[in-house]
Amino acid sequence: MFENFPLFPQQASTLASKVDGLYYFLILVSLFFGILIASAVIYFGVRYRRRSATQRPAEIHGSLALELVWTLIPFGIAMVIFGWSANIYLQIIRPPDDAMPIFVVGKQWMWKLQHLEGRREINELHVPVNRPVKLIMTSEDVIHSFFVPAFRIKQDAVPGRYTTQWFEATKVGTYHLFCTEYCGTEHSGMIGRIVVMEEADYQSWLAGDGGQMPLPKAGEALFTQLGCASCHAGTSGARGPALAGLYGKKVQLADGRTVVADETYLRESIVNPHAKMVAGYQPIMPTFQGLVSEDGLLQLLAYIKSLGEEAAANPANDGGAAAAPHGS
Ligand code: CUA
Repeated sequence: MFENFPLFPQQASTLASKVDGLYYFLILVSLFFGILIASAVIYFGVRYRRRSATQRPAEIHGSLALELVWTLIPFGIAMVIFGWSANIYLQIIRPPDDAMPIFVVGKQWMWKLQHLEGRREINELHVPVNRPVKLIMTSEDVIHSFFVPAFRIKQDAVPGRYTTQWFEATKVGTYHLFCTEYCGTEHSGMIGRIVVMEEADYQSWLAGDGGQMPLPKAGEALFTQLGCASCHAGTSGARGPALAGLYGKKVQLADGRTVVADETYLRESIVNPHAKMVAGYQPIMPTFQGLVSEDGLLQLLAYIKSLGEEAAANPANDGGAAAAPHGS
């Protein structure tokens, strides 16, 4: 609509037109009431002006009908705006299950991005068109914010935790990436671009930088290098909890609480292992704070998640065997 008239950024994601629809509605409602009220102020000012020094205005008593009209109409409009925006918000915060993960680390003053297949980028993100992409983001230092106007998405990257956002690009092209949280002297220079490619081009781009280790593999190498396996071997009687299938599961803690093993919990358990002790284990794990970079932590997470996928991919071994007698 505004392709050659840059009042609005391009609409290049599935969310863009939805966000804009709501935005146009808000502008129209504001314009309508703004003009209505301004006109009424001018009209009444002229119509009911004082015409002589002795003029006394007539007393006016309340009107229930009028009160109801100017209460219920704005209430109705507010509810429409609430319902509409809540609906869009829920779509924005819930990534589709099949979304392709990209790992993002913000630092003063650049964006570092890793693809699951191992390819890394700085201030540039290549993604395929028409495929949902989920960004798992953190920061090495201060709060940054990942903003892609053409996709109508913006989310803070916060040190010490993971935030996520998702998008599905609908148009091949190159789009602006901005940092929208003031993060130091070079904040305004913390810019980049998103390159949306056809699926086939994306696949050849991914393969183009040969010799890159897939993220779970890199994580496995780090896991071995740091000696994690000596305690997290996954065998009974091991000094640390088994990690296979852990991601996304509920964990019973020593203090009676239960937590879900999401990205933030796993990260904390690596850099600050004693914060949430798993029931039945001793607090013997040393901290890895400062020993593993944020990129490395994301690789370890990708590895731990891949252990879960292997466990989930093979339920046929026990589930299938149990079901077989009924089938035959
Ligand atoms: Cu990073 Cu502003």
